[in-house]
Amino acid sequence: MLPILAALALTLTVSPALAGENERVPPVTHAATLKECGECHMAFQPALLPAESWSRIMDGLRDHFGDDAGLPDDVAADIRAYLVGHAGRGDGRLMRITEQRWFEREHRFRDDVRKNPDIRSKANCEACHRDAARGRYEDD
Ligand code: HEC
Ligand code: HEC
Repeated sequence: MLPILAALALTLTVSPALAGENERVPPVTHAATLKECGECHMAFQPALLPAESWSRIMDGLRDHFGDDAGLPDDVAADIRAYLVGHAGRGDGRLMRITEQRWFEREHRFRDDVRKNPDIRSKANCEACHRDAARGRYEDD
């Protein structure tokens, strides 16, 4: 790992907010997002995706990566406003954090990562980053 390169990649591609103390990703502070988007997986921090990606996700909750994550309209609108309002940078055509270029650059997973029962998915951030829910991804 080259910490300098990693920090640079983050500063340039995730969010200007990450250039601050210890490259910390601002944690989720919105109660409805924590509750509704933290049910099946960790509630991902808004800075991990650009606004357009969040909009796409919120438009398609009823068919959300094979699950029905549908919400009442008012709750969905509240969550959308939070995510879009605190979004980071990246490719808005991609809905997955794990497909963003910065993510692929930081993570050179072996092909069998999905078969590891302790990890299961690249999106299972907490399997490798113990403090992911608090926005801490460095030095794990
Ligand atoms: C009913 C369960 C469920 C709920 C509720 C849910 N999700 Fe998901 N989400 C999933 C599944 C399943 C995946 C695919 C996980 C994988 O590929 O490992 C996923 C993946 C994602 C990803 C892509 C992760 C990656 O691969 O980079 C994002 C972003 C995401 N969800 C955001 C949200 C948001 C925002 C909410 C709240 C509005 C939400 N999810 C609520 C089940 C859920
Ligand atoms: C299989 C283990 C694994 C999974 C799963 C994983 N990561 Fe990582 N991640 C790493 C490793 C290893 C590094 C590079 C070493 C380091 O800098 O901590 C890293 C680096 C990072 C960095 C750069 C940290 C820095 O300071 O340079 C970020 C941000 C990050 N991961 C976010 C995520 C997010 C968000 C998820 C889930 C969507 C995730 N990771 C899933 C292992 C993983």
